[in-house]
Amino acid sequence: AVPLRPPIRRLLSCPGSASADVSGVDQAPGAANTGPPPRSFSEVQRERWEQAQRTVLIRCPGRFREKPLLRFLAQHGPVSRHFFYQSVGLYAVVEFCQKESVASLQNAARTPDLSTESVIPFRSRFFTLRLKNSPSQTSEWPGVQCQDQSPPSSRKLMQLLCSAESVDQQLHALLRAFQLTEENCRLRHLTCSLIGDVAAAFFPDSVIRPFGSSTNGFGKLGCDLDMFLDLDEIRKPSASKTPGNYLLEYQVKNVPSDRVVTQKILSVIGECLDHFGPGCVGVQKILNARCPLVRFSHQASGFQCDLTTDNRVALKSSELLYLYGALDSRVRALAFSVRHWAHTHSLTSSIPGAWITNFSLTMLVIFFLQRRSPPILPTLDELKALADAEDDCVIKGHNCTFVSDLSRISPTENTETLELLLKEFFEYFGNFAFHKNSINIRQGKEQNKPESCPLHIQNPFETSLNISKNVSQVQLQKFVDLARESAWLLNQEDKSHLFPPRNQAWGLAALLLPSLPSGVSLSKRKKNRLANGTVKSLLDSIRGNGSAERATDDSG
Ligand code: GTP
Ligand code: MG
Repeated sequence: AVPLRPPIRRLLSCPGSASADVSGVDQAPGAANTGPPPRSFSEVQRERWEQAQRTVLIRCPGRFREKPLLRFLAQHGPVSRHFFYQSVGLYAVVEFCQKESVASLQNAARTPDLSTESVIPFRSRFFTLRLKNSPSQTSEWPGVQCQDQSPPSSRKLMQLLCSAESVDQQLHALLRAFQLTEENCRLRHLTCSLIGDVAAAFFPDSVIRPFGSSTNGFGKLGCDLDMFLDLDEIRKPSASKTPGNYLLEYQVKNVPSDRVVTQKILSVIGECLDHFGPGCVGVQKILNARCPLVRFSHQASGFQCDLTTDNRVALKSSELLYLYGALDSRVRALAFSVRHWAHTHSLTSSIPGAWITNFSLTMLVIFFLQRRSPPILPTLDELKALADAEDDCVIKGHNCTFVSDLSRISPTENTETLELLLKEFFEYFGNFAFHKNSINIRQGKEQNKPESCPLHIQNPFETSLNISKNVSQVQLQKFVDLARESAWLLNQEDKSHLFPPRNQAWGLAALLLPSLPSGVSLSKRKKNRLANGTVKSLLDSIRGNGSAERATDDSG
């Protein structure tokens, strides 16, 4: 039987443990702060973009054989990588070694001729594969192995956590289970590049770049896909100087402001996606928002997409978060657990409202790690001081400069365990003076709140803005109450670790159980957690099965 809570777990705790496997994610681990430094954000993004340009998406028939399909595709050039996944149907992502192979495949494809409907012709990189001769019903089909694109179910997660050997391992296990896989990352970049093909119909040389949690290292399977339509290549001044006394400018249409430019461009791209974007459905133009956007579903990938433009600061925020996450393996492990904890207790929501966002929670984790002694993360001002001339970046008057070369940042001396950090995170924010202080990752210290709102987290680049302006007092109080309760639960475990009851979820798993409504005393809450029938039966089933790996997965 698998011990649910081994008494020796403290001995197994290992700060900065190399077990933080982040295979498949853009970033290198920064694990145990050894090995080569992770690559810079722009290097990773450039490579991903280039890969996506050589990649196609194919909707496959229900029954086909993998090897003949690959032989068929290889007629257009060598394939460097491929995988299958299931969404609404079966899809193949196929990456060629050369970009020319994609053009060759496009030349071999035809526009479908439908008998009942008419088609809008568009030569995209998204194909449907049909079999000329339908297979006989009796022949055997081996099927293909599909890569899972969704996170594990709560039941599977509980099994994973309860069969871990320490709280540190629990946090790493949660990270491994929820972080974006290599395949999911590729699919995100491919989706951006397919949407980029539509945008390029109007704006040749434009690029659609992913940002937010798809690129910053904090994305979990199933998170939305934030896209940025980058028109800078078009705006860039020409490299060649015009000779003589002449200056040549494009004739352009003028509008009153940058905001109107953004609205007009997004409006047109939204129409294009709606009318001839293959697989783009439910297109909504949300042009009057503070940051205008087009929201749609990309059916084939299953991603909910938010397309913006003129939002370059958000790209810099993604780079900053990527850098913080890559500096030390504890950062992402702690942030994933805190974000999952918040999601489980409905502190966050996919619907916009008075809730705290994942972005704000990540900021809280970064701030907390800057406040440790010695600090685990440097302040943004320290990162700015390490920057060189190439890192200089000013966006609309906001200084967004910080170092991009991670090897210039000295590793931390701090060796605290994740178990300790998790407990102290909840204690720290359970007792934080939110009524008077603001969180500021630029200076790494709390400051007097400049305005009266319940939660103030200074926007690191547009410093007069508060990224958590939307959070209500009720939601903040809920966060504080739950943080206190979680700190209390972890403290109780500390006291009882030598004689752990074998019928309760422990460590991080205990924090993810449903909570009681506020107003119920902590001792009653504790009793309720132990008596939770579902959890007991789940734990019994884990003991019965012997290992989480062998337990039946009900994820879907
Ligand atoms: P999830 O989508 O929840 O996984 O996280 P996310 O980081 O992608 O958040 P979201 O999709 O809400 O926003 C995308 C990006 O926009 C974030 O990563 C930030 O860079 C930026 N962003 C989000 N909210 C704010 C905000 O309130 N202020 C500023 N300045 N930027 C924000
Ligand atoms: Mg997002």
